[in-house]
Amino acid sequence: MPTLPPKPPGWVLETAHTAYALGLTANGLLLNRFWGARLPLRTDYPPPAEYPNFASFTAAAHLSPEEFPAYAGASYVEPCLKLLLPDGVRDAVLKFEKADLRDGDTYLIIHLRDAFYPVSVALHYRAHHDADLIERWAVVTNAGPLPLTVERLFSAQVHPPLGEPYRLTHVAGKWSAEFQLERETLTHGVKVLESRRLTTSHHHNPWFMLDRGSADEEQGEVWFGALAWSGNWKLTAETTDFFGTRISLGLNDWDFAYVLNAGESLSAPRTFFGYTKSGFGAASRILHGYIRKRVLPHREQLHKVLYNSWEATTFNVSERAQMKIAKVAASLGCELFVVDDGWFHKRKNDTAGLGDWWADAKKFPNGLGPLVAGVNQLGMEFGIWVEPEMVNANSDLYRAHPDWVFHFPNRKRTEMRNQMILNLARADVREYLYGKLYALLSDHNIAFVKWDMNRNISEPGWPDAPGDARELWVRYVEGLYELWGRLRDSHPQVIFQSCSGGGGRVDMGILQYADQVWVSDNTDAPSRLSIQEGFSYAYPASIMEAWVTDAGFNTIPLEFRLHVAMAGALGIGGDLLKWDNEDRALAAKWIAYYKQIRPVVQGGDLYRLHRLDGGMFNALQYMLPDRSEGVLFGFRMFAPQFLPYTTNTVLLPTLHLRGLDSTASYQIEGIEAVRSGAAWMEDGLRLSLPNFGSTVRRIRRI
Ligand code: GLA
Repeated sequence: MPTLPPKPPGWVLETAHTAYALGLTANGLLLNRFWGARLPLRTDYPPPAEYPNFASFTAAAHLSPEEFPAYAGASYVEPCLKLLLPDGVRDAVLKFEKADLRDGDTYLIIHLRDAFYPVSVALHYRAHHDADLIERWAVVTNAGPLPLTVERLFSAQVHPPLGEPYRLTHVAGKWSAEFQLERETLTHGVKVLESRRLTTSHHHNPWFMLDRGSADEEQGEVWFGALAWSGNWKLTAETTDFFGTRISLGLNDWDFAYVLNAGESLSAPRTFFGYTKSGFGAASRILHGYIRKRVLPHREQLHKVLYNSWEATTFNVSERAQMKIAKVAASLGCELFVVDDGWFHKRKNDTAGLGDWWADAKKFPNGLGPLVAGVNQLGMEFGIWVEPEMVNANSDLYRAHPDWVFHFPNRKRTEMRNQMILNLARADVREYLYGKLYALLSDHNIAFVKWDMNRNISEPGWPDAPGDARELWVRYVEGLYELWGRLRDSHPQVIFQSCSGGGGRVDMGILQYADQVWVSDNTDAPSRLSIQEGFSYAYPASIMEAWVTDAGFNTIPLEFRLHVAMAGALGIGGDLLKWDNEDRALAAKWIAYYKQIRPVVQGGDLYRLHRLDGGMFNALQYMLPDRSEGVLFGFRMFAPQFLPYTTNTVLLPTLHLRGLDSTASYQIEGIEAVRSGAAWMEDGLRLSLPNFGSTVRRIRRI
C-alpha cells in the first residue's frame, strides 16, 4: 500500500512480494527510488537519488531515473511525452502538483502540470497485490482554450537498478513463424521494438523481460512488463552512458500526431510491470495468472475442443460438405464446430465478398440456420469466421462506400490478399459492421466467433478526418475495441477468438475481448513447438488455440501432432474425411484424454522443464496450483542416431519436475514407483523417446 513518507514526498506501492517506490527530489524531479523485492520496513526504501550535472553537456534529468521524462531541458534520453504547444513551444516542463491515493491506498495518481502552459499529465499507478503486478498508464489533458498537439505519449518508463549490462528477452518473427524467443545483451544506445502496421504484428510482441545475464527458468532476478494495446506500439530499451537501463512502453510516435482541443485528454494504454527472483518461469506464471484471472472476458472458463474446417475445405463451404465433416468431428469427441472463411455473400475465393456479411445464397439457399441446427443436433456448438475490418473491391460494401477504406487521394490503394482496410475510426463504418454482426449473432445459435485480420496497413490516409489524420493510429484501435465491446455486451455468452493471419494480434489489450487466440497459420508440429514456447513467455496455454492438421502427415506421427496441440487449447483442423479408421480412433482416444487433463493444462501453472531452443528435446509441465495434479509433456525431434545405440530410442536428459509438494507422494503415469515430490524434483526422471516420439503423462498426488 502506498504511504506518504517523510519529506520530500514519496510513495511506495507494495504487492505480495515486490515493491515499487517513487518520490520527488528537492529540485522537483519525480524519480524512481526502487523496483524489486519487497523490503521489511517502509523506511528501507531509499530516497530519490538525483545526480548532479555531468560537465556542461548533460543535466541531472538525463542522469536520474525519471518516472515520466518529458522532452524538455538538457536531457537526451527517450522521453515519454513530446508536445507541440499552441504557440510553437516544443518542450513540456512538468511540475508536481498533487498526489491522490484511492481504493485503500492501492491506487496512486500523481498530477503533474506544465510550469507555464495549461497542460496537465496524470500518472496512474495501481498495485495488484496478489497478482504481484504494478499497473501504470498516463493521461495528458489540455486544460487551456487553444489546441495543442501530442507528438509522443508513452504509458510509462521503468528503471531496473543501476548497473549494466542487462539482457533483454523478447520475441520476434513473421507470418507463419511468430513468437521466436530472442535474448540479447543491451549495449549503449537504444534498442527499439515496435509495430508500425496498425496491429500488434507478427514481428514483435509488446512485452519484455530483463535480467543480468544469468537468470534461467528457475532462478535469478527478472524485471518484466507488458503493454495492453492492439495497435502501433513502441518499446525502447535504452542503456545510457551512465550505467542506467530504462524501458519505455506506449503508443508508437511513428507518423503520429494527436490534437487535443480545449478540455480534451489522451490516455496512453495500460502497462503491467513485475519483478521476481525466481527466473523467467516465475515471470511467465505471474503474467499467465493475471491474464487468466483478471483480463479475459470469461476468465477461467475451460475451452471446448473445436474442429475448424479451413484447412479441409478452404473456400469450398456448403451445408452438405460441412455436415459430412461435422459428423466425423462429433464422433471423435469435438465439442465445437467452426466454419471458417467462404460462407458469406459471393465468397468463392479471396478476391470477393469481404464486407458483405450475410450467407451466400448459392452455398446456403436456406441460410445458415440448417447447418447450425445440424451441428447442434450432433451435440456440438457452432462457431463462425469473420474478418470485419476488411473489404474486397469486389463487394457490395465497397461499391457503395469506396471512401470507407484508408486511402490517400491521388494514390493507388495497395491491395494485399485483394483486400483493403475499413477505417474503424469512422462511426459510420462501425455502425454498419455492428448491424451486420449483431444480426449474424442474433439470428443464429452462434457460440464462437473467429475474428480475423489478414493484412497490415498501407496508405494510412483519412481524407475527411475531423482532426489530424495521424490520430488514426489511436482512433482505429479505440474504434475496434468499441465495436468488439458492443458485440460482447450484446452477446455475452459468445467466445471470441483473435486471429490475424495466425498470431498477428495477440496482446493484453485484445485479451479483454477475445478469450482465445490463433497463434500461427503454421500448424507443422515441430515448428509449432518453438512458436508455442515463445508464446508461453507472456501468454497462458488456455488462450493458445492449437490444432492438429494434416501438415507433416507423412513424416510426423499423428500422436506427436496430437500431443503438441494438447499442450494448449486443443483443436482439430485436418481433413477428417481423409483420415482412416486408425487415425480417427487415435484422435478420439487422445481427445477423451485431453478432456481429463484440460483443467490442468488450461488452469495450471506452466514449468518449461527443458526448452527446445533449437535443440532436439522439449519438455514442459503443467501443475494445478494446489499441487494435487499435473501433466508432463515430452517431445523429441529428429536426431541422428549415434552408435552404440541399437534401438532408435534415446535416453533424454534428466527432467526435474517442478511445483510438487516435496513431502507428498506422487505417481507418474507409466512409472510404477511412487516417490516423494522431493525425489521427482531433485532426482528427477529420465525418458526414452524415438525420433518424433512424444509422451503425455499425468502426475498425481496420492
Ligand atoms: C487466415 C487465418 C486462417 C484462415 C484464413 C481464412 O489466414 O489465419 O486460419 O482463417 O485466414 O481466409
